[in-house]
Amino acid sequence: MALHTPGGARSAPPIVAMRGISKHYGGVAALDKVDFHVGRGEVVALLGDNGAGKSTLIKILAGAVRADQGTVAIDGREVEIGSPAQSKALGIETVYQDLALCDNVDVPTNIFLGRELRRPLLGGVLRLFDRRRMAQETRRLLGDLRINIADIHAPVRDFSGGQRQTIAIAKAVYSDANLIIMDEPTAALGVAQQEQVLSLIENLRARGEAIVLISHNMDDVMRVADRVVILKTGRLVTDRPVSDVDRQQLVRMIVSGVEEPPLRREVLQ
Ligand SMILES: Nc1ncnc2c1ncn2[C@@H]1O[C@H](COP(=O)(O)OP(=O)(O)OP(=O)(O)O)[C@@H](O)[C@H]1O
Ligand SMILES: [Mg+2]
Repeated sequence: MALHTPGGARSAPPIVAMRGISKHYGGVAALDKVDFHVGRGEVVALLGDNGAGKSTLIKILAGAVRADQGTVAIDGREVEIGSPAQSKALGIETVYQDLALCDNVDVPTNIFLGRELRRPLLGGVLRLFDRRRMAQETRRLLGDLRINIADIHAPVRDFSGGQRQTIAIAKAVYSDANLIIMDEPTAALGVAQQEQVLSLIENLRARGEAIVLISHNMDDVMRVADRVVILKTGRLVTDRPVSDVDRQQLVRMIVSGVEEPPLRREVLQ
């Protein structure tokens, strides 16, 4: 797992830059010439009302949907994302709301699913799962991310929604992802569980991870996002630092689809 320098070199190209992305479904423009980028160590909130195009934009990055028009560049290099496997290979991990965890197995098994660590036996004739090392790595990972799970060998169905969400995010982090996309990570969570996920996002940002956060919760957005991007019926409404908006303005722009001038906070002389 690479540790990046938060706020790294200013001149570095964004981790992901999407340009002029359009996608039509029949007569409906789900996306209309949308630009979207995410830099290293940046949390970008992707906002918009129902049907705004958020999921479609994310699905294009995740390789689940192909754009009709536009380009995607990773680290300044133009790429084709033709499948979910290609998206993963490019270092893009998506944590969907319906968590892709296996309920009846423990935390290490979930984290290492399909990429199990093995140890040689009989001079390498057999290669068995190295459960001890996977448990060690899991404890280290959870410790690094300050995720508090007392018994990693309990089946994950025994954990709370918040713990499960943090495990799913930890799994994405362990993939050495360049970009982690989270679709409504705190929806349907209790207050304490939301807090767990939000502080995990803050820890990830401090480590220099790039994050896209889809959320309908303006408090979450104001707290953890560096930048907000608002879509309305497939069009870009605004893309600006979170310091240039307040909660009310965000809600107004999401509903109206009309960009408002950047908020000028009063400076006391
Ligand atoms: N597979 C599809 N077939 C037809 N139309 C689609 C399809 N997927 C999305 N759309 C349409 O594209 C538009 C954008 O949808 P999208 O799911 O991207 O919105 P969203 O911003 O994620 O909304 P929500 O907040 O409700 O999840 C909508 O009008 C939707 O009906
Ligand atoms: Mg959606």
